Amino acid sequence: MIAHQARILIVDDDEVIRDLLSQRLQEEGYMCEVADNGSTALAHIELDSFHVMLADIRMPQMDGYELLTAARDIDPDMQVIMVTGIRETTEAVKAMKLGAYDYVMKPFDLEDVVHGVRRALEKQELKFQNRLYHKNLENRVREATKELIEKNRQIQILLFNTITSFVNVLEAKDKYTEGHSKRVAESAVKVARTCTLTRSEIENMRLAGLLHDIGKVGIREKTLQKPGALTAEEYDEVKQHPLIAERILEPIEELHMVLRDIKHHHERYDGMGYPAGLRGEEIPFGARILALSDTYDAMTSERPYRSAFSHEQALKEIEMNAGKQFDPELVAQFLMLYSY
Ligand SMILES: [Fe+2]
Ligand SMILES: [Fe+2]
Repeated sequence: MIAHQARILIVDDDEVIRDLLSQRLQEEGYMCEVADNGSTALAHIELDSFHVMLADIRMPQMDGYELLTAARDIDPDMQVIMVTGIRETTEAVKAMKLGAYDYVMKPFDLEDVVHGVRRALEKQELKFQNRLYHKNLENRVREATKELIEKNRQIQILLFNTITSFVNVLEAKDKYTEGHSKRVAESAVKVARTCTLTRSEIENMRLAGLLHDIGKVGIREKTLQKPGALTAEEYDEVKQHPLIAERILEPIEELHMVLRDIKHHHERYDGMGYPAGLRGEEIPFGARILALSDTYDAMTSERPYRSAFSHEQALKEIEMNAGKQFDPELVAQFLMLYSY
């Protein structure tokens, strides 16, 4: 692609060589510029871009090495072929180390020079294509990542809307729980923020809080709405709600990380809770947070069969149950957060 538009800069203090090279390379269809010293060559490179520079090593004032180094600083993509005398092999090697692509020795066969220029151009084309390929690849990866982030965002929105619908279903059935799920979610997030949890673990507490009582949709309304104390049988029925929640939410893979917290939000630190009778740290950490936020909200809410506890009474009750119903360390955090 480059070949016939290729621009070549020829730098030599010997006019005969400059003309010879320029003439032959122009016959190949290349555009040639000439310079008789390093400074002029650099001025050309500053102004224009060249694909290949042919530079003599032995020149007065600025030698080929100096020119090579300065030229590569200006245009690192330009390929440089050094022209050197027959006894200057070590110097040619030095030039290669400084970044020259190739060298030709004087007296040179013009066809060798043409061949060298052609190879240098091919290499440059390859470099160009390679860079283009990587740039395209980077763009494609960037695009794909953007799409993925957007899709993920949409899934998160869908998930959140689904959860809100679930909560609405529950609240339509059990009017006493109105606002309860949301308040528990907010409180659980607040407590979680004081613990060493990741941002996503904290956000999971919001989902767990919103959904913790979703299993109540499987409990008879008669039992949920009963104004007085529950019979042992009715209480057994209510105790099913964490297990029902697990069954309801199980098909949603995106909620698996909060399933255990929801399932165990009625466990007690002393092992006397339900559904599994887990004890202490056997209870998932999130479930221990939920237990606190849930109980606090239930206590401070009005019920048909009892009036709401005051904020102070509820905190006192929680404090008294540290190590019994609740994780004592979390109780300390909770009291610190809620004492005002
Ligand atoms: Fe519950
Ligand atoms: Fe609850």
